[in-house]
Amino acid sequence: MAITAEEKTGTFHLQTDNTSYIFQVMENGELGQLYYGSKIHVRPQYVNLSVREQRNATTAWKLERPDFQPDVLKQEYASFGKGDFRYPAYKLIAENGSRISEFVYKRYEIVEGKTRIAGLPSAFDDTKDDAQTLIIHMEDVFSGLELELSYSIFPHQDVLVRSALFNNCGSKEFTLADAFSAQLDLPDCKYDLLHFSGSWARERHLHRAHLRPGIQSIGSMRTASSAQHNPFIMLARSGADEDTGEVFGFNLIYSGNFLDQVEVDQFETTRILLGINPAEFSWRLLPGQSFQTPECIFSYTAAGMNGLSQQLARFYREHLLPARFAETERPVLINNWEATYFDFDEKKLLSIAEKAKELGIELFVLDDGWFGCRNDDTTSLGDWFADTDKLPLGLDHLAKQIHAMQLKFGLWFEPEMISLDSRLYDRHPEWVIHVPGRAMSPGRNQFVLDFTRQEVVDYLFEAMGRIIEDAHLDYIKWDMNRHITEMFGACLAPEQQMEMPHRYILGVYQLYERLTSSYPHVLFESCASGGGRFDLGMMYYAPQAWASDNTDAAERMLIQFGTSYGYPQSMMGAHVSAVPNGQTGRVTPLETRTAVAFFGAFGYELDITALSAEETFKIKDQIKFYKKYRSLFQFGTLYRIESPFDDEQNVMSWQVVSNDKKHAVACRCQILNRANPPYTRIYFKGLTADQKYTVNDSAEKFYGDELMNAGFFVQQLMDACRHAGVSADFQEALFVLKAVE
Ligand code: DGJ
Repeated sequence: MAITAEEKTGTFHLQTDNTSYIFQVMENGELGQLYYGSKIHVRPQYVNLSVREQRNATTAWKLERPDFQPDVLKQEYASFGKGDFRYPAYKLIAENGSRISEFVYKRYEIVEGKTRIAGLPSAFDDTKDDAQTLIIHMEDVFSGLELELSYSIFPHQDVLVRSALFNNCGSKEFTLADAFSAQLDLPDCKYDLLHFSGSWARERHLHRAHLRPGIQSIGSMRTASSAQHNPFIMLARSGADEDTGEVFGFNLIYSGNFLDQVEVDQFETTRILLGINPAEFSWRLLPGQSFQTPECIFSYTAAGMNGLSQQLARFYREHLLPARFAETERPVLINNWEATYFDFDEKKLLSIAEKAKELGIELFVLDDGWFGCRNDDTTSLGDWFADTDKLPLGLDHLAKQIHAMQLKFGLWFEPEMISLDSRLYDRHPEWVIHVPGRAMSPGRNQFVLDFTRQEVVDYLFEAMGRIIEDAHLDYIKWDMNRHITEMFGACLAPEQQMEMPHRYILGVYQLYERLTSSYPHVLFESCASGGGRFDLGMMYYAPQAWASDNTDAAERMLIQFGTSYGYPQSMMGAHVSAVPNGQTGRVTPLETRTAVAFFGAFGYELDITALSAEETFKIKDQIKFYKKYRSLFQFGTLYRIESPFDDEQNVMSWQVVSNDKKHAVACRCQILNRANPPYTRIYFKGLTADQKYTVNDSAEKFYGDELMNAGFFVQQLMDACRHAGVSADFQEALFVLKAVE
């Protein structure tokens, strides 16, 4: 039994294969957190973990219990205004303005498996992988409100999924002002916070810093998870590294405004809260109504950050990604964006497709510019029918010819947006999000549709569905290129305006849900000006996400390495583009651009019709190589070896290993070459110690323990580069390891 409930002592112990999570009902009826970490034995109670000392100058629960002081206790889902002065997990406002509520334990239930949450992306256990769900029912007797705290454990991935559900079972109206998805109080603060922040074209760079007293947070108020801060965070013991030490990972299955907050209090305990950002949220709860928070992932390992990333990747594949794509090899694609931008016609597209076929590419993606009269970014968003100037014979005609070449066909949409210069705006100016009477702020010359209106979602479902059917689409790239301003819901009451950001995201999820269930064969790739909505909410519907508009190999190392901490490599759309790179002006070798893109959902984004004979030859070979090891690149166990975020930021290496550990591919890239460089070895990981391997088909055979512990000599690149007459900067080395004998 993975969940043990000790009714007598009100203690709940949730065990996975390697972790324990324990909490108990406290004397005041609220829940106290006792332990989260490496697995420990089940006992009826844990007095040692719940002892506390009475502190001076601290509020008590009641006169008779001066020793019960909420401010010194580790809580499960802390209330506001009853003596715990740290940031609360929720806040409910009554009709008279009071913010006090006291949810006390009522009962529990344990349910086998894990069901999906209607209307929200959520974890599931369709494969009967021993998941169990514990639901703790709490009630606030005074108001009649009920709270259900839900804990689902996935024992074999060491993952716990939490959420909260508020039910107004009383007769009065309430406003939910804060409603985090989950809270975790840890007994000390000797951790580093690791988060993944940046900007457009600089997404998910790793930042690591010690916790300090006070509140540290990252979040978004852009109605998107954002390129600025990703919702995935880790807390690691100060000495923890890629392969050793304790690490917690937290993430939200959510794509909207979020807040991840870490508070170190006066006693050096740590409170972690994750959920919808309270700064732009409240929810009216009328009698009989409920509010469900998004789900939050907790994961823990004592095996360092590689261990954490690996268990999360496994969990997402088995319990979050659409099953039909989770382990299906993704096609090598060509995207026409950087080849043509808006300037193309059918002839040009077909010439790209023909060349793609010759190279071994499998999917042709037509990006922005195929609809309405879209020759630049000022028009036509919302007019989802083919531009008859560029495609006089229609999309289906183009699609037919692409399919006839035995290529799959995919299309770009930006469903959430509208251009003022569009037929849709002429017909429905009221569909744009705006504040009546006030000016609207443009972003990339475009505005946002009000996805809280059912008729907007219906229109898009119908328009996109028609094209999916007519053009027999195999793939959709769903882009989103601006954040919402002048947030106002024309259909919402004044007291519901703060519901708008969350309701907007629910509208996006509704459209995704309807499209993916009506057209399950279509592979979706999410995108938001590159990687601006790279999150688990999107992953639930779209197995791939465009990692960044920045395809420069040197910068992509940082972006993809950072992304790999919280997301599997199969999710990372990674393409080879032309040089000089459009974002950095840098010239890197084709081999390096390719080797970096190999570790993801691989493709090309350049004018392949302009390739030289030598480049054509090389690319054919590279695609052949990728296809041979595709399943390893996309679904193999990933080990980060050398970090490009280390002080010198000059080298990156990582490796993918097959489940049976018989095959591995590693890549080592350097940014700048150094004169007379230090003697270098690469230390492979994840091999079988007493298995022999060849490296790049070497005559010599090496035991796994030698390759992992003594390392493998890496030759200086200078001589080979001088000989070939190329720069030794931005060079890569690929190592293919094969088990022999
Ligand atoms: C932004 C995306 O990130 C690009 O890949 C491309 O699709 C453009 N939008 C098209 O407008």
